[in-house]
Amino acid sequence: MTLSPNPKAKPKLDPKLAELLSEIERFGTENDQRESDRKRRMLNLEPETAALLHILVRATRRQSILEIGTSNGYSTIWLADAIRSRSECRLVSIERNPLKLEMARQNLLRAGLLNSVTLLEGEASATVKMLEGPFDCLFFDADRITAPQQLEVLMPKLKPDVFLLADNVLSHPDEIADYLSAVADLVGFSSVTVPIGKGLNVAYRQSL
Ligand SMILES: C[S@@+](CC[C@H](N)C(=O)[O-])C[C@H]1O[C@@H](n2cnc3c(N)ncnc32)[C@H](O)[C@@H]1O
Repeated sequence: MTLSPNPKAKPKLDPKLAELLSEIERFGTENDQRESDRKRRMLNLEPETAALLHILVRATRRQSILEIGTSNGYSTIWLADAIRSRSECRLVSIERNPLKLEMARQNLLRAGLLNSVTLLEGEASATVKMLEGPFDCLFFDADRITAPQQLEVLMPKLKPDVFLLADNVLSHPDEIADYLSAVADLVGFSSVTVPIGKGLNVAYRQSL
């Protein structure tokens, strides 16, 4: 079955923010077509996947989100917008490439969302060890190979009611296999892969 995204079915965004996101999308697409070095590609989330994240985070009133893989801040802006106007929320995002993190800072500044996000520079597996929980939403969008290590460190830092989200399930099935198997072994979680964009795995544990 093929799901065709309905372009009209976007979450309602502030028109200026929607314009900025479209500009970042265009920049990412043009940059990634030009760059042969993967490290210099932005690899932004597909807009449909970003919109689904926005809906999930907003509808379920997530309060404490950790994103792994900031790049130039495209998905970070969607996530920050989803928790905008709720003062008790926090969003932390990790990126190892300082040039991309600086681009993310500039993009978040332009979006008026820089103060809503804590940007951390570093290798994700080392950085997550230093983070204080609790988180109620993790979004894995860095290298798929080290995601199981990060998940293991983060498990004690999760709220009972928590989403684990991971992109690239359909685009990189071999690389993400160990992460999916780790999630399948978790007690109390249900999970499904949504065939949107590059494939988003959504795992959820409901508090009792
Ligand atoms: C797919 S891109 C993230 C795209 C971003 N979420 C967006 O939608 O704009 C993956 C990013 O994760 C970073 N990354 C990859 N492995 C990492 C790791 N082990 N630790 C920290 N950052 C990592 C890369 O430098 C890259 O910028």
